[in-house]
Amino acid sequence: GIAACIFDLDGVIVDTAVYHFKAWKRLANELGFNFTAAQNEKLKGVSRVRSLELILEWGGIQKSAAEQQELATRKNEWYVDMVHHMTPEEILPGAKELLESLRAAGIKTALGSASKNARVILEKVDILSLFDVVVDGNMVAASKPDPEVFLKGAEALGVAPERCVVFEDAIAGVEAGKAGGMKVVGIGEKDVLHEADLVVSGLHEIDLQTLTNLYNSK
Ligand code: G6P
Ligand code: MG
Repeated sequence: GIAACIFDLDGVIVDTAVYHFKAWKRLANELGFNFTAAQNEKLKGVSRVRSLELILEWGGIQKSAAEQQELATRKNEWYVDMVHHMTPEEILPGAKELLESLRAAGIKTALGSASKNARVILEKVDILSLFDVVVDGNMVAASKPDPEVFLKGAEALGVAPERCVVFEDAIAGVEAGKAGGMKVVGIGEKDVLHEADLVVSGLHEIDLQTLTNLYNSK
């Protein structure tokens, strides 16, 4: 049966996209252009440096590598300030319950996130202890849709990828899980996350029976 579940962070366990949006918007505005919610959607699962490249492209401005470094750092400082005020009430519905029931059933848990701030966020919402392993943006070279982050998680848990289920809200993340040979549960909409083996609106829709059925399905 299933030996491990690997979770994305942003959009699966907590909704930090709102904070990323505020920080990127502030940066864009300081640079003299706007940044929309629709653009923010496109940055889900995308690394910090790549997000900045896209934003500068959308704003139609060019910056040197050194300036980009400085801008990314500035954005991250605002983001980290907001994240430091996060509380356990911000855990998305069903996330904590699912992690606890996996624990009780002897199924291992890992976090697989592109965020370099993943660990501090888990600490702030007081859920870090429910993860056996945390793989974050500081530990991977290749971004999703490359499966590296999830394969590292499986390896650290000592579990074969085939026996892992990944939970992801981003298209690139769903692709990463599939590329790693794992079952993938998409969090969001079916017509967007069409590569996922199952799509639900949130972790509150998932229980052990759902996972067993998913694992036994082709
Ligand atoms: C997640 C989010 C992205 C974010 C990335 C890096 O994948 O969905 O929006 O850009 O993490 O986050 P960081 O905290 O390292 O800037
Ligand atoms: Mg995500």
